Amino acid sequence: MTSWKAKYQDKIVGADEAMAAVKSGDRVIIGHAAGEPQALLEALVARADEVRDVEIVHMFTMGPAKYAQPGMEKSFRHNGLFLGKSTREAVADGRADFTPCFFHEAPRLFRQKIMPVDVALIQVTPPDTDGFCSYGISADYTQAAAESAGIVIAQMNRRLPRTGGARISLDALTYIVERDEAILELPPPKIGEIERKIGENVAGLIPDGATLQLGIGAIPDAVLLFLTDKKDLGIHSEMFSDGVVRLVELGVITNNKKTINPGKFVATFLMGSRKLYDFVDNNPAIEMAPVDYVNDPYVIGQHDNMISINSALQIDLFGQVNAEMIGAQQFSGVGGQVDFVRGASRSNGGRSIIAMPSTAARGTVSRICVELDRGAAVTTSRTDVHYVVTEYGIADLRGKTLKQRADALIAIAHPDFRGTLRSAIAKPRKEVVAV
Ligand code: COA
Repeated sequence: MTSWKAKYQDKIVGADEAMAAVKSGDRVIIGHAAGEPQALLEALVARADEVRDVEIVHMFTMGPAKYAQPGMEKSFRHNGLFLGKSTREAVADGRADFTPCFFHEAPRLFRQKIMPVDVALIQVTPPDTDGFCSYGISADYTQAAAESAGIVIAQMNRRLPRTGGARISLDALTYIVERDEAILELPPPKIGEIERKIGENVAGLIPDGATLQLGIGAIPDAVLLFLTDKKDLGIHSEMFSDGVVRLVELGVITNNKKTINPGKFVATFLMGSRKLYDFVDNNPAIEMAPVDYVNDPYVIGQHDNMISINSALQIDLFGQVNAEMIGAQQFSGVGGQVDFVRGASRSNGGRSIIAMPSTAARGTVSRICVELDRGAAVTTSRTDVHYVVTEYGIADLRGKTLKQRADALIAIAHPDFRGTLRSAIAKPRKEVVAV
């Protein structure tokens, strides 16, 4: 038996025994994204008949989120800071809630008891020789949740990569559940011709030596395909995925030119395949930091040539970006989009880029529109937005009048929709806007 096991033997319990600590009315925070402690959630959901009104706070859900399924509403109430496939319907049906929140502010909600935390369910590696466990691939708000919670239940999983940066002492854990299981993986994105063209357009905006933030999905991965000729790129990103590993192997990403944290990949969570998890495991160049550091616009802005790349669902002719709602339905959330748009704006030589296909719904809807859909929210304001990129080109909106912005956006809209958009701006705006 290793020394830490001897010392902490009394904290080691089965998942069912640990979950008995969750009481009706508690607020439970779940480790984020691929850091989700799946065995603990299974055991919690199995207690559905024994608990009432347990609030489950989560952000990007990669697992099945059984607690948000129909029939669970008396036992669990999901509160998403961001929505995914498995939680969208519950919010749309009124069986779950959504709380708007900049990602970098999530830790503050817990630490300042704006959302007091009763129980944190986290996933950690076995401890190192000093008795500290790594948070692996989810430091983000998970560290703040664990440090703010009355009870911390950790799934100790030997398949979780051990990373540098954020870590937790065994002393801070209330219960330890030893359970090795496969880490949740993100399926590879589908990169088609449109995404490749967008990737090529975005790559033209990235200078050698730039530090990159990459959002979620096919477009950031498509951008990476076109960076093979660049030199000395660096990563300071909310998250990154498998596409980065290839550029490291090609010697393109070195992190050598980063203004702060040189030589390090800085991220707050990671999602990808096992190849990514193996790449980061015990890799001294990986620094996992909490999201109130990584996504703080003032930290981001200290990097010279900071380039942020995020996507959107629609953009109106003012340049207002909706990246989170389809019509009146919440689709995702703001995540780190505004954090990085603002950080990149402050950066010397920085650029923030919103990249998206010109159409949606199999080409039937223009994402560049006169007005955002009725009921939709503005994620990134027109005053914050800088570059917008589609497969048809690049619109640089900064310093442009409303008329110039509209013209620049129409020029990168799908040709089938340009006529309608042009005729809308030909009239005075008060005649165009629906009442
Ligand atoms: N009207 C109707 N349907 C639309 C639409 C619109 N304006 N825009 C998109 N859709 C549909 C798409 O057609 C697609 O449906 P399909 O799969 O049936 O074809 C679906 O909605 C998803 O759109 P898509 O653009 O493929 O989404 P994505 O998975 O690439 O994610 C965002 C794009 C913007 C939702 C995602 O990047 C996000 O949530 N961003 C906000 C947070 C953020 O940027 N954080 C920082 C990085 S982590």
